[in-house]
Amino acid sequence: MNNKKKAFQSVLPATVAACLISMSSSAYAADNSDPIKVGVMLPFSGVYAGLGESTRNGLKQALKEQGNTIAGRPVEFIEMDTEAKPARAPEITSSLVDNQHADFVVGPVHSGVAMGMIKSIKGKDSIMIIPNAGANAATGAFCQPNVFRTSFSSWQTAFPMGKEAYDMGYKKIVTMSWNYGFGKESLAAFNESFTAAGGEVVKKMLVPFPKTEFQSYLTEIASIKPDAVFVFFAGGGAVKFVKDYDAMGLKGKIPLLGSGFLTEGTTKAQGPASEGVITTLHYADTLDIEKNTSFRQQYEALYGKPADLFAVQGYDAGQLIAAAVTATEGNTSDKAALIKQMEQLEIDSPRGAFHFSKAHNPIQTIYLRKVVNGQNTVIKTALENLEDPARGCKL
Ligand code: PHB
Repeated sequence: MNNKKKAFQSVLPATVAACLISMSSSAYAADNSDPIKVGVMLPFSGVYAGLGESTRNGLKQALKEQGNTIAGRPVEFIEMDTEAKPARAPEITSSLVDNQHADFVVGPVHSGVAMGMIKSIKGKDSIMIIPNAGANAATGAFCQPNVFRTSFSSWQTAFPMGKEAYDMGYKKIVTMSWNYGFGKESLAAFNESFTAAGGEVVKKMLVPFPKTEFQSYLTEIASIKPDAVFVFFAGGGAVKFVKDYDAMGLKGKIPLLGSGFLTEGTTKAQGPASEGVITTLHYADTLDIEKNTSFRQQYEALYGKPADLFAVQGYDAGQLIAAAVTATEGNTSDKAALIKQMEQLEIDSPRGAFHFSKAHNPIQTIYLRKVVNGQNTVIKTALENLEDPARGCKL
């Protein structure tokens, strides 16, 4: 794909890895038994709790593969519940960065929380790895040397669907999401490519976050009778929305489209209501990639349930930490050196290998997917190696 350094293309058994470490690591790593501190800022309660749990599971899976040590140093996790509340972000970030001196802070899920975290971590000696939140500004106008993202930008996940929707024959569409940064940016990105293709967004609906009372909006959609509906909802909100859409009799009459979060980690709870929902995302359960198969098998063995995208993104945050700290032979005190390594890495992700743009966002392929028998199944590649435009980033 490119000449980037590979991040753990093959994983050594922990015993072999430990033996190699003791034979070959630098004096620094051999002498340093201080833990590598990883702050974890995720929602463990509220409407995004399931996303937080999957992300943490994936993160821990990646580090377990390294025997929970990197270059001979143990890894310590400090977990904080953001509750997906932006107001909590500055206080928690500051406690992890200024009091605990975390080497890395992994989080969050919610874009509003991300923006608060970025303000608090700017210029500090900790590296933030965003395993989900898509706010365009995180790797756009507010991009920072010490902020990386293993997930996506809002633009990346919704822009490809506009053209796909038009090509499917839909000319008049209603768009709908929660009324906060990520939702609004997703609708804007969809609108950008849909109108460029010739389509028209006949109505945009915004629901206060995290409300899940959708009936009045669905009644209005039924009366508008658009060709299709494009939405962003996730977690508990996605479960409720897809079930309500069916219960109100819209399924089968007005096709439901979304960015892929609508059906990620939710299809079991959504049941038959999710069948046929079409989305765009940088991952699908059924991706025929060796790394995806082995990742999913290990995840299921560890946690007793299938992996989803959020687990993949957490796993890749863990892979990124492990690869970067290995490359600096366990030295985490020189953050500029760590950042340099991170910028050069290729991450062997279950979604397919990726590397970072100059703004520190993954350059990645976006798939068009359909729920078939409860699984997000690839219909086709929507856009290959899509790079976020990183509008306003000066890195
Ligand atoms: C976000 O707020 O950026 C966000 C939240 C949940 C998702 C995707 C993005 O599933």
